[in-house]
Amino acid sequence: MHPPRAATAAATAASAAAPVPLLALLALLLPLLPAASAAPAAPASAAAAPLSPAGGAVVARVDRPSPFSRAHTVTTFRAAALPAAVATQAKVARPAVQPFQFTFSCADASVAVCESARLGFERAGALIANSLQIATTINVQATFRSFCNAAGKARNCDLGNTLGQAAAAAYFSAKLDNASEWAFYPQALIKQMQPDHSLQFNQYDIVAEFNADFPFFFRNSNRTILANETDFEFVVCHELTHGLGFDTAWASYYTVYSGMTRDSSYLAPLVYLRGSNLNSAVVTSFEPINIWDMYVQRSADSQALSALARTITSFGGVGTELPKFLSGFEASGAPYRAGRDVFSAVTAGSRAIAFKPKSGDLVYLQTKGGLYQPGSSIAHVDYDTYWTSPDFLMIPAVQNLTGSSLDDIIKSNTKGVGLDGGIYGPGTKNIMASIGWTLAGQSTVTLRIAINPSPDLPKSGALARAVAGASLPALAAALVSTLVSLWL
Ligand SMILES: *[C@@H]1O[C@H](CO)[C@@H](O)[C@H](O)[C@H]1NC(C)=O
Ligand SMILES: *[C@@H]1O[C@H](CO)[C@@H](O)[C@H](O)[C@H]1NC(C)=O
Ligand SMILES: *[C@@H]1O[C@H](CO)[C@@H](O)[C@H](O)[C@H]1NC(C)=O
Ligand SMILES: *[C@@H]1O[C@H](CO)[C@@H](O)[C@H](O)[C@H]1NC(C)=O
Ligand SMILES: [Zn+2]
Repeated sequence: MHPPRAATAAATAASAAAPVPLLALLALLLPLLPAASAAPAAPASAAAAPLSPAGGAVVARVDRPSPFSRAHTVTTFRAAALPAAVATQAKVARPAVQPFQFTFSCADASVAVCESARLGFERAGALIANSLQIATTINVQATFRSFCNAAGKARNCDLGNTLGQAAAAAYFSAKLDNASEWAFYPQALIKQMQPDHSLQFNQYDIVAEFNADFPFFFRNSNRTILANETDFEFVVCHELTHGLGFDTAWASYYTVYSGMTRDSSYLAPLVYLRGSNLNSAVVTSFEPINIWDMYVQRSADSQALSALARTITSFGGVGTELPKFLSGFEASGAPYRAGRDVFSAVTAGSRAIAFKPKSGDLVYLQTKGGLYQPGSSIAHVDYDTYWTSPDFLMIPAVQNLTGSSLDDIIKSNTKGVGLDGGIYGPGTKNIMASIGWTLAGQSTVTLRIAINPSPDLPKSGALARAVAGASLPALAAALVSTLVSLWL
């Protein structure tokens, strides 16, 4: 997906984020520019939740309060382990009466347009629920507003080309029984599974915003779509799917930890930090990559990018301040080279990486030669390959589908066969099934998932030694008082 800063030359100051928008025109995107903007201030609302006095593991939930920013906050809480008796294959999930619950706020638009947008959310949710089995209601904070008003009319609007953005509102580091490694799972997906700890969930599973400045077509307008309009339900389905886990954790430190390094030639998982000031915050650990990333491979030689992530995170220099961590990483040899390999892979040309689902064909992902576009590269399907296919939904930009209604697109892209009343083509279904969703029509099992307690605890380095002797409750208290906010 394309972040707003990739949308226009003026966008570099917008944020250090790699959100997940759907853009109107891929052709308008420019290369990521080098100008390093000031690191944004940490949000004030980053306080961790109080721990309950009871025992149990300290679990860290990583929240992403806004789709426009990669600022993460970590909330820690103590969680009781649940009995293992909840067997993997035992439970049959019933579909939720209401698969999606939208908390909708609408500014900058007429009552009639707001109502059209509200109906668009409802129908988009129903389309997804026809493709996936949703047993636990997914809560979406959905906002329809002018992106440009919010940016300030006085300056160039960075977001004028962005239709919408969305992200999972919270992640947990977790793994299925047989997995060898932890991965970030979006809260919406964790909720469909059986976690091994009692969890405190974020109020929302997905945060999504849609640009009221854009000429959207709403189904309930009872007219044909205009040539300059984009189907609103298409955009909502696309954004919600990002929030359901169609998203990458790969990030450029150059962009995210802006101003702290001049090196834009590598990608890596972000890091857990302790402290509210980026310059003095201590890196405690690497974050895991997303469960989605676990299935991505380099096209040229089928090298799994998750293997490169393992090499990157073998860098032992945690326990130091962020600037020192960055310079140490860039001098680290093999870990750094693996980060460069990832960057090279995603800038090697089109179709340079692919999602290899558990079953089914490779799905080629969006990449461009010599051009890394955060928010667009990686976590979308390749535009040219798929825009006329049943797997059109996750293309990075609407482009040639502007002026076509969702019904028309489905009809022409599936040669009239349709998508079984849903919205996912076969490749998209295989991707969603690989990351853990149960597809419509599949037999339902509730997967038991293990939560990684305190994934931010240092695994090596000075801080690791410092805390090695600390008891868990003491550590938990330390987490509450020192974990303030993270910029990811
Ligand atoms: C997990 O492993 C068990 C045995 O170790 C096996 O029976 C089961 O099929 C595996 N599950 C998956 C999803 O691979
Ligand atoms: C479109 O038609 C439907 C059904 O006839 C009606 O309920 C709805 O109010 C109409 N919408 C508009 C904007 O006129
Ligand atoms: C879209 O096209 C219509 C009809 O050509 C035109 O009246 C309208 O101004 C256009 N809207 C935008 C935002 O360009
Ligand atoms: C997409 O539309 C552009 C014009 O907007 C056209 O030049 C291009 O050929 C179209 N792409 C395809 C694959 O048809
Ligand atoms: Zn997108």
